[in-house]
Amino acid sequence: MTSGRKPRAACLIGWPAAHSRSPLIHHYWLRRLGIEGGYVIEAVPPDEFQDFVFRLSLRGFVGANVTLPHKERALALSKPDERARAVGAANTLWYADGELCSTNTDVEGFINNLDACSGGWDKAEDALVLGAGGASRAVVFGLLERGIRRIHLANRTMERARALADQFGASVLPVAWDAVPDLLPRAGLLVNTTSLGMHGQPPLEIDVGRLPSGAVVADLVYVPLETPLLAAAQARGLGTADGLGMLLHQAVRGFELWFGQRPEVTAELRAVVEADLTNT
Ligand code: ATR
Repeated sequence: MTSGRKPRAACLIGWPAAHSRSPLIHHYWLRRLGIEGGYVIEAVPPDEFQDFVFRLSLRGFVGANVTLPHKERALALSKPDERARAVGAANTLWYADGELCSTNTDVEGFINNLDACSGGWDKAEDALVLGAGGASRAVVFGLLERGIRRIHLANRTMERARALADQFGASVLPVAWDAVPDLLPRAGLLVNTTSLGMHGQPPLEIDVGRLPSGAVVADLVYVPLETPLLAAAQARGLGTADGLGMLLHQAVRGFELWFGQRPEVTAELRAVVEADLTNT
């Protein structure tokens, strides 16, 4: 006999409905853990977003991921945790005691992926972060939470690096883009959050030979899976953490909040998503 209860479901809210790997990831975990549940993409235009979110539960959803262009609105319409507030954007919504809460799972996605790929990375005294957009905010906040003492923040548009540094305090030091080569010898951790090196974008010109031995290099770009930056770092024997790993790790918390079990990022899941990336 069935209970008659509808299976739990979550959704990804975006506009337009971009192709996303999130359904693949969550369906994989649901199947693996034997949980009856669903995860669908909902294309919601900006002027309907508020209404959609207010009726999320009435529509049968236990929570949602939120992507462009709704992440800032999602923050304003929910009770954000410290991470979502610091990043200024929410990407995950769920209910706690009937209240709609939000977080930004890019922070833990970045940090947990580094822990999984390059344990000991947090011994770095100086980190060098390239880029000052939304992804950079999540990275910088994660590094601060983890106690990294100095974060040099380089961006093509220096003003954006300054604004981000002002928000995060004295540990974050804005630097000019052309100062990057001089900073490399002291960067125990190098993180690319820019779109440089992404398929169809200009290359990222970094001489990894200038990094200290034992440095760790992280790239948020995952198309291509192995960016020239990561390939060069690996060829030099440095630790690396890639963008696909971050994508998989950032999905863990939402699943746990919606479906009640913490899923694992396994080699098999990675292979499933890699195959999908290679085929599209
Ligand atoms: P996201 O939210 O993914 O971080 P974003 O806010 O558009 O996206 O930020 C993109 C980042 O890539 C920015 O740091 C951007 O630099 P600017 O602030 O100067 O625009 C950086 N970026 C994009 N194209 C670049 C290029 N050709 N050279 C250097 N940096 C570039």
